[in-house]
Amino acid sequence: MGSTIKNIKLGVLALFTLGFAILFFNSTFFKAEASINGAPTARTGAPGEQTCTDCHNAGTNTGVFNVVAPSGYVPGQTYTIQVQHATTDTTRRAWGFELIPLTSGNAMAGTVANLNTNTRVRVSGTKSYVTQTSAGTFSGQTLSAGWSFSWTAPATNVGNVTLYAAGLQADDSGDESGDQTYVRSVVIPPITTASLVEISGRVLTPEGRGLTNARVTITGPNGVRRTTLTTRFGSFRLVDVEVGSSYVIDVSSRRFHFDSRVVQVMDNMTDIDFIGQYWNIRQ
Ligand code: HEC
Repeated sequence: MGSTIKNIKLGVLALFTLGFAILFFNSTFFKAEASINGAPTARTGAPGEQTCTDCHNAGTNTGVFNVVAPSGYVPGQTYTIQVQHATTDTTRRAWGFELIPLTSGNAMAGTVANLNTNTRVRVSGTKSYVTQTSAGTFSGQTLSAGWSFSWTAPATNVGNVTLYAAGLQADDSGDESGDQTYVRSVVIPPITTASLVEISGRVLTPEGRGLTNARVTITGPNGVRRTTLTTRFGSFRLVDVEVGSSYVIDVSSRRFHFDSRVVQVMDNMTDIDFIGQYWNIRQ
C-alpha cells in the first residue's frame, strides 16, 4: 500500500517536472531564441503592431534611437539604411531593433536584405522584418551600436514609404526588465525624375493644307503607345510625355503617306510637322 502511494507521488513529481520542462522550453527557451537572435515579427510600432514592450521594459528613454534613410526614393533603386543607438548611460550593454518599410496602406514596400551577419530578415506572411542577430546585439558594448542593411524601393512609385522601427537598449542582464524601448518612423517620399512635356505639330497635305482626322501615334519605351486625331486645322497635341526617351511618331491617313519620325524628347517639341505624299507618287 505504502509503496503504491510512493509510486503515485513519484509519478506526480515526474509529471510536474515534465510540465515545468515543457513550460521552460516554451517560454524562456523559444522566447529567447525568438528574441536575442532577432525580435519576433510585428513589433515595430507600425499601425496595428506592438513594440518590444510586449516583453521588454519600456524604461525611460535617456538615449537616442535613429534611422538614417534617403530623403527620397527612385522606384527600383537599392539604398543602404542605417539604424543607430547612442547613449551616455553605460549600463546599456546590449542592443536590438526591428524595422519594416510599409506603404501608406501598410503593405510591404520593396524588399530588405542583409549586408552582414549582424542582421537577419524574418518573414511573416507578405511582410519581411529586419532585426538583430545574436552577434548583432553587441553584448557588452557600451555607448553606441548600429546596423546597416539594404532596402530596394518598390519597382513603381507607390507614394510615401514609411520605415517603422523599434529599438532596444538593454542592460544585458539576461532578463527583459531594466531595458529601454524606443520607437522611430521615417517617411521616404518618391522622387519623380521624369518630367512631363508636350509634343505637338501639324499634319499637312502635299499642298500644305491642314489635314483633319489623321491618326497620330507615338510609341515610347517598352512599346507604350498613345494616339490622337488631328483637329480641323491639322494640328495635334500630346501632353504628359516623359522626357529622356526616344519616341517613334507615325501618322496614318487613307489619302496620304507619311514617313515615321524618331524624336529624342528632351523638352517640349511644339512644331513637329508632317507633310503627306500621294500614295501613287511614292510607288
Ligand atoms: C515575445 C517576447 C519578446 C518580444 C516581443 C521581444 N523580445 Fe527581445 N527578448 C525576449 C527574451 C525572452 C529575451 C531573452 C532574455 C534576455 O536576454 O533578455 C530577449 C532578449 C533580447 C535581446 C538581448 C539583450 C538582453 O536583454 O539580453 C535583445 C537585444 C532583444 N531581445 C531585442 C528585442 C527587440 C529590439 C524587440 C522589439 C523589436 C524585442 N526584443 C522584442 C523576448 C522578447
